[in-house]
Amino acid sequence: MLLCLTPARAQKWEGFASTPQMGWSSWNCFQCNINETQLKEIADIMVEKGLVDAGYEYLNMDDGWHAPRDSRGFIHEDPQKFPSGLKALADYVHAKGMKIGIYSCAGRKTCAGYAGSSGHEYQDAISYAEWEMDYLKYDWCYHDGLNAAGAYNLMRDALYSAGRPIFFSMCEWGSSNPWEWAAETGHSWRSTGDIGPAFDADLTIYDENGNPSWRPLSVVEIIDKNEPLRAYAGPGHWNDPDMLEVGNGMSATEDRAHFTLWCMMAAPLILGNDLRTMSDETLAIITNRGLIAVDQDPLGVQGLRLRKEGSIEYWFKPLEGGDWAFCLLNRSEEDAVASVDWTSLDFTDDLSGRSTLFSETTYTLKNLWDADAAEIQSRVKGKGRQRKMLLPNNFEVSVPGHAVVVWRLVKN
Ligand code: GLA
Repeated sequence: MLLCLTPARAQKWEGFASTPQMGWSSWNCFQCNINETQLKEIADIMVEKGLVDAGYEYLNMDDGWHAPRDSRGFIHEDPQKFPSGLKALADYVHAKGMKIGIYSCAGRKTCAGYAGSSGHEYQDAISYAEWEMDYLKYDWCYHDGLNAAGAYNLMRDALYSAGRPIFFSMCEWGSSNPWEWAAETGHSWRSTGDIGPAFDADLTIYDENGNPSWRPLSVVEIIDKNEPLRAYAGPGHWNDPDMLEVGNGMSATEDRAHFTLWCMMAAPLILGNDLRTMSDETLAIITNRGLIAVDQDPLGVQGLRLRKEGSIEYWFKPLEGGDWAFCLLNRSEEDAVASVDWTSLDFTDDLSGRSTLFSETTYTLKNLWDADAAEIQSRVKGKGRQRKMLLPNNFEVSVPGHAVVVWRLVKN
């Protein structure tokens, strides 16, 4: 008798990313200059400074950990950078109660020119599982015209077959509209090219002949590309507008705006600064619990830009329990004053089905950057005994250049 056994269908590992992932990655501050001593120090600091308690659980190696493949095609770590080996590093990180991430590329080579996974997907997935990695960022350089869905599904299947649950962070920069096809492939997908440490400045790098060779995107450019994709994000599959540049050279005001907008957009919060040397101000920004709660809200709805008025943008994000996050972003360098008119902000978000209902709901406004700011009560209108105007219908808010003012609107 012929027995037909159906093999278990490979799939994405479930149980990850019910909220956007949080952690740290080596790329934005170290590029390929990584080694085990430095990464252990970063893990130590993440525990000591309360970052793990705040939710940052992954320590992710980016490009540059590799040695060449061996004669059987297996990939290895650079023995100079990682003399104890990646498994020992994983053990160290796990003992801290954290998780560890690794990086590869769907193409022949990684973006920095190390061995890519093309043709070695199943082999590499086995190595990552043996080293007890928890996260794979998978890049898109040197892909030689591969079909993106094919290449990313292949690695998804390889990770599944290797038997160790691994978070799959897709990094093909939005070039094949992954938001349209990747919800069953990865747990997040990059929605844009690479970020640079600039709020709105042009960071073009020129070669020796004066030709532009590389152009990282500014914070506001990334916001504009990522905002329209909100309908595609949700628990288990997030738009990834790239790692954070907080602490990498922007002003504290700009860093606060950058961090806030990433939280408003339910973005993965992957820190990109040298945590060993950061200022207290930077630490305060990245551990703002009120904003982290906005990012990690269980409803899992990416926020929206409702309106632009001059240089001021009005952003809303529906939160669990009837709350909202409400943010004013000033894109200009010049200080501005926003005139907030609650009744004009009554709207229904079709994606979540939630309405602000300012005309009949009482909210308490908690300022998420300025804990000392007086709580504001907002009830524009009410019925019967509840009729009470606690806040003028128009109230003015100063928003300095490149700053945000952000509140949690707590439904009473
Ligand atoms: C690409 C990615 C970056 C980083 C580098 C590493 O540019 O988009 O995030 O991983 O490669 O070389």
